[in-house]
Parts: sequence; structure tokens; C-alpha cells
Amino acid sequence: MKKWPVFAAAAMMVAALCLFGCSSGETTQPSDSSSSTSSSSSSSSSSSSSDNAATADKQDAATDEMVLVEPGKLTIAASQDFPPFENLNTNGEVEGFEVDVMEALCKEMGLEMNYLPTIKFDSILPLISAGGKADVGVSGFTVTPDRAKEIDFTDVIMDVNQGVAVKKDGGITSVDQLEGKKIACQSGTTGYEWAMENVPGADVQAFDEMTGVFAALDSGQVEAVVADLPVVQYYVLNAYQDCEVIAEVPTGEQYAIIVSQDNPALTKALNEAIAAIKANGTYDQLVQKWFGA
Ligand code: ARG
Repeated sequence: MKKWPVFAAAAMMVAALCLFGCSSGETTQPSDSSSSTSSSSSSSSSSSSSDNAATADKQDAATDEMVLVEPGKLTIAASQDFPPFENLNTNGEVEGFEVDVMEALCKEMGLEMNYLPTIKFDSILPLISAGGKADVGVSGFTVTPDRAKEIDFTDVIMDVNQGVAVKKDGGITSVDQLEGKKIACQSGTTGYEWAMENVPGADVQAFDEMTGVFAALDSGQVEAVVADLPVVQYYVLNAYQDCEVIAEVPTGEQYAIIVSQDNPALTKALNEAIAAIKANGTYDQLVQKWFGA
């Protein structure tokens, strides 16, 4: 195993002790201050300040003005185990395609980008839906109807399919051969759902982190991994060269940013910023930077 996953795993253990941004006392209170980019109009409900967002009446939070956890900043929750989309580099900084996209969007919106410490993927959606700790979740979130009941999605920022990886000498060469096998997936992901629904008799094991998913394949605890293809390719190429990608599963997924349903003005502002960076060439440059061609 190469350096970065070890580092990422260690960083994630630290982060696990520090869920929900405990490194900063500043993020514990919601703010009624809205950004200058927000649309305005009937904002009567936004003046009722709450000491605790978790207990805030959802009605109070529903406003036509953009609400931010910290004024002037876009506070982002992410599971930073997902290269090339978001990953902790060896300097302990979050980097990746989606990080660069968020930086460009923040620039458009006149906000400072603020990533919270890494958060378990399946904790992000409840965190955003509850409000008060982070403004958006950005973690290769596939748009699904079930999730759309709980949170709002912005416009799409990436298309992906699922990918299957195995040990090179494991004897599995096609998706059909996964039947009845042990498969590792990240909990709460579309890859997990796909494996549960499409591989007959499989023992699908859920792991909190992508690093754990690949560690299980490497150690022989499972015989295959199912996850988003670009991520599977990245792990195989950069850390697990004794593994290989044997299949692309055409699930036709689309990534978007998740936002609280109480904050439609933020979703709108993000969509405008997404349109702007797609129109001005920034988005294409970032696709080129991270995915080539
Ligand atoms: N696209 C998949 C999903 O939405 C997997 C996302 C996992 N993201 C992460 N940062 N680990 O379920």
C-alpha cells in the first residue's frame, strides 16, 4: 500500500473523533446573516434567531434569503476519502475535482470556502438536512429520488458509472462471476445499493470509509469492490496495483451538491454559479486538469 491511503486512514481516524466540525467552536450556531448574493424579498421569517439549529423550527429556517452557518463563508461537509473528487493530500489539505469546483463556485458567489474536517459519507446527508453545521454536502453525491425527499440537489456537476475491482490473481473476470461472492462497498452509497440489488447471493459488506473498502479487498476479506468508477480507478492506479478494474457498470449516475430544503436561495445561487463556471470555461479547465482529454 502506498503512502496516501495510510495517511488518509490516519487522518480519518482523527476526524472520526471529531465529527461535525468540533475543531471550531464557531460553527455551532446558525446565523441569520445572509450573503450579499442572496435574493431578497419577504424575509420576515428569517429574523427569528435560534440558539440551536438542531431544534430550530423548520418553518423559521425556510426563507427566501440565503442562510449561511458562518456569514461570508460556504461551510462544506465532505467525506474526504474519494479521490480524485475530494481527498486529504499528504499535507493534510483537502484536494480534488470537486474541491476545485467548490473553490470556483465560492469565487463566483463572493464567499470564502470552508471545508469542515472529513465526515463519514452516510452522516453528511442527515447533517445537511438537520442544518446548522454545514451549508452544503459535496462528496460525489449521486442524485437519487430517495435523497431528494430529504435534501435539495443543485444542478449536475459530473456524470459517473459504477466500477468493479478485484485482486488480479483472484480469478474473477466478469460481473457475472460476482454471484455469491463477498463484496465491499461504502455504506450508504449507490454502489452498495447496486450490489445488494443486482448480485445474486452476494455477501455485501459495508464500510464507513473508501479506504476501508480497499483495505478489505487487499487483505482478502472480500473478493471484489463496487464503487464509483473514477474512484475505483484512482485507488487501483495509485495504491493497489495488485488489483484491477474488471468492469464498468453503466448506472448513469450524476453528481450534485446537496443543500438543505430550508435554504432554496442557496441552491439557486449555487446553480447560477455552476452555470457561470460552465459558461466561462472554468469548469472545462477543471475537468481537463483532473480527468485529462
Ligand atoms: N456516488 C455515490 C453515492 O452517491 C458514492 C459517493 C461516496 N462519496 C464519498 N465521498 N465517499 O452514493
